Amino acid sequence: MDSKIRIGIIGSGGIAAAHARAYKEMPDVEIVAVADIIPGKADEFIQKLGLDQAAGFDDHNALLQLELDGVSVCTPNVAHHRTSIDALRAGKHVLVEKPLAVTLEQGVEMVQTAKQTGKMLTVGFQPRYDPNMKTVKDIVQTQLGDVYYIQTGGGRRRGMPQGTFINKELAGAGALADIGCYSLDLALNALDYPKPLTVSAFASNHFGTNPKYHPQADAFQVEDFGVALVRLEGDRVLNFKISWAMHMDSLGPTLFLGKDAGLKLTPAGKGPWSGVWDGGIGTIGLFHDINGQHVDTSIPVQSHSLNIFYEKVRDFVVAIKEDRPAPIPAEQILINQAIIDGILRSADLGREVDVNVPNV
Ligand SMILES: NC(=O)c1ccc[n+]([C@@H]2O[C@H](COP(=O)([O-])OP(=O)(O)OC[C@H]3O[C@@H](n4cnc5c(N)ncnc54)[C@H](O)[C@@H]3O)[C@@H](O)[C@H]2O)c1
Repeated sequence: MDSKIRIGIIGSGGIAAAHARAYKEMPDVEIVAVADIIPGKADEFIQKLGLDQAAGFDDHNALLQLELDGVSVCTPNVAHHRTSIDALRAGKHVLVEKPLAVTLEQGVEMVQTAKQTGKMLTVGFQPRYDPNMKTVKDIVQTQLGDVYYIQTGGGRRRGMPQGTFINKELAGAGALADIGCYSLDLALNALDYPKPLTVSAFASNHFGTNPKYHPQADAFQVEDFGVALVRLEGDRVLNFKISWAMHMDSLGPTLFLGKDAGLKLTPAGKGPWSGVWDGGIGTIGLFHDINGQHVDTSIPVQSHSLNIFYEKVRDFVVAIKEDRPAPIPAEQILINQAIIDGILRSADLGREVDVNVPNV
């Protein structure tokens, strides 16, 4: 493909600017149009980011009538479903921001539409582009033997977002969907996404609903803490916990226990917003026995100068150019979504629930 890849951006808020900046760095890409549901906002965005050649729309369907190769969906979670499906049906490849959707049903429909249209649906999980994530996956798959227990998640001590993120109808879930999806991806991707079978979970929002801790406490409708025991196929169990706020510095490291060895990871971030898996890996420790001796090895963490956000957007473009499958397939992320959906149902009912990931 010699001509430039033609891109549209749907939603022109905070993360859309990161997408636009990434595309602007690519000489083989042209941002053709931007759409935002708030009249005039797309035009302001175009001006602010210097996208002089782009057209602004206040309806994503008008943008989709243009000849485009791909679109970035950067709306609040609630609109991922409608805009992605419309884009796929209009024959565009889609990079949708995380989380995939608000409900499992919506996610299923999105994946089905990608299959029906033959267009790519990939999800914006940039931590996968950290080279240390590849090291982790490699160790999990080659050195641990059968993995039977995984502990993941992480906690911000104080890291409460506002606005659309705390509105149940717009966001779907709180800390689980916002930051939990990254740690789930870290653990599940390392194991090639085993299917979940059941979930027993607890969720709370003691911080979000307390004016002492949140300026929009009256409007706070989602969970700020969640914990779950997830049974996975293959006789494995995942212990998952996440928080936007708590009276604690950490919810512990990520652990993989295998029959031959164990792996311990700590996140790189520091400070009250740290402790989650969107800020890179701090330490990697491999624990095993060699001839009856405990051998604990610290695996060097690679320092790198990659801009992982750029890498994710670039991979989308290259996948379009090379006619490759989705770099982070929505089918995998559907499993992530099914777990979050199961956690919310289980927490609501106060008992264990089955998790069925539909075959699409
Ligand atoms: N990958 C990451 O690191 C990362 C970081 C932050 C946010 N996100 C995700 O990005 C998404 C957007 O987050 P944000 O912080 O940019 O939100 P935002 O509220 O700043 O921006 C969203 C924009 O979408 C517009 N919009 C809403 N419905 C629309 C529709 N139907 N059509 C067109 N435009 C519409 C809004 O008017 C707004 O301008 C969320 O899903 C969030 O989870 C990802």
